[in-house]
Amino acid sequence: MTSLRSWKSRNAFFDGGKCGLKMRQLPFMGMLCIVMLFIVYRTTTYQHRHTEMEAKLHPFDSLKESALASGLLSSLPEGIIRASSDLEPKPLWSRSKVRAPSHHNLLAMPVGIKQKNNVDALVQKFLPENFTVILFHYDGHVDGWWDLEWSNKAIHIAVKNQTKWWYAKRFLHPAVVSIYDYVFLWDEDLGVKHFDPGRYLRIVRDEGLEISQPALDPNSTEIHHRITVRSRTKKVHRRVYENRGSTKCSDVSEGPPCTGFVEGMAPVFSRAAWYCAWHLIQNDLVHGWGMDMKLGYCAQGDRTKKVGVVDSEYIVHQAIQTLGTAKKNSNTDESIKRHSPIIVDSRMEIRRQSTWELEVFKKRWNEAVKEDKGWVDPFKRNPIRRKRRRHRH
Ligand SMILES: *[C@@H]1O[C@H](CO)[C@@H](O)[C@H](O)[C@H]1NC(C)=O
Ligand SMILES: *[C@@H]1O[C@H](CO)[C@@H](O)[C@H](O)[C@H]1NC(C)=O
Ligand SMILES: *[C@@H]1O[C@H](CO)[C@@H](O)[C@H](O)[C@H]1NC(C)=O
Repeated sequence: MTSLRSWKSRNAFFDGGKCGLKMRQLPFMGMLCIVMLFIVYRTTTYQHRHTEMEAKLHPFDSLKESALASGLLSSLPEGIIRASSDLEPKPLWSRSKVRAPSHHNLLAMPVGIKQKNNVDALVQKFLPENFTVILFHYDGHVDGWWDLEWSNKAIHIAVKNQTKWWYAKRFLHPAVVSIYDYVFLWDEDLGVKHFDPGRYLRIVRDEGLEISQPALDPNSTEIHHRITVRSRTKKVHRRVYENRGSTKCSDVSEGPPCTGFVEGMAPVFSRAAWYCAWHLIQNDLVHGWGMDMKLGYCAQGDRTKKVGVVDSEYIVHQAIQTLGTAKKNSNTDESIKRHSPIIVDSRMEIRRQSTWELEVFKKRWNEAVKEDKGWVDPFKRNPIRRKRRRHRH
């Protein structure tokens, strides 16, 4: 499109500026006009064909959803169209009309059988609040879970060796989770002794947090970003002050990881924020590195206000070592594990892959910014280019 746009504008300039100028130059200018028009015509035709081909190859990539809907659904009467779904099991038959609760929330977690006890404790916390639970079994073991009473009501997805973001992209499409007010996309190894989902929901609603996470107990095993650490004296915090290390955070900091930031291990999204975040997740970049830095763009407004960490309801990142596999204790690479719950021997490979994915993601973002001429960075208020912060992911 860039080339077409520039051709068009150049041609317009040509038309208005030179074509009608001097009679002497008319034949030459006329020829030039024709040549230019021909080039514009060819470019347009080529671009059009190219777009058509793209659309055929990747129909859902290149078409806007609305255009898709209006075109492919035009043969259906409008009133019959249902554009969304949900994750609620339905009875095969039912005489009495079951009144659906007015509020739904979703807990989604990748899980492995080795963490069953912790997952059970975690889910137990959410059941009184009537959360819908969807478990992604990355080890493929589903049978081992049926003895838990709540298991029958949960949704179980078994696909081996995939990451949280892989599952989320495939099974939490916004059209499928649109009835849920909040989506909790959590890791399985979180301690919830000091966490109450009901109170948490009231806080994020009251505080207008579109993207949030419970704070981490300071004695959690791995703390990657200071902003996630619990402040004992607060209910919620939205920024961190940091004067040591490579990242300096102060009142003037405008973005991650100083403010407008949550980490990937226990994010909570509002419906609107999830709609956006799902689109931000790259289908092929399964480790999700780098995405946390951009999540603030999905905050539906000012990320310094609508993204926050809840202190009064907090969790412990326990990094439970799975039983009977002592060798993991020594050098578990936690930063890998929390994005990809699979404990594998090939941690180096995963780290390499994640680092590579991070670079690809950054490049894609930058290219997208460059190509989308109409895009204005909502967070670039200060024209002075600040020093680029170095961040690992
Ligand atoms: C959960 O559902 C039950 C049964 O429908 C209802 O009695 C209860 O009030 C609900 N709890 C919450 C927190 O909405
Ligand atoms: C962290 O400290 C609290 C309070 O001292 C304690 O209850 C909790 O078990 C500790 N958690 C871990 C993971 O050590
Ligand atoms: C999943 O990962 C485990 C551990 O690395 C491996 O043994 C197994 O073959 C993998 N399974 C699949 C389906 O890729």
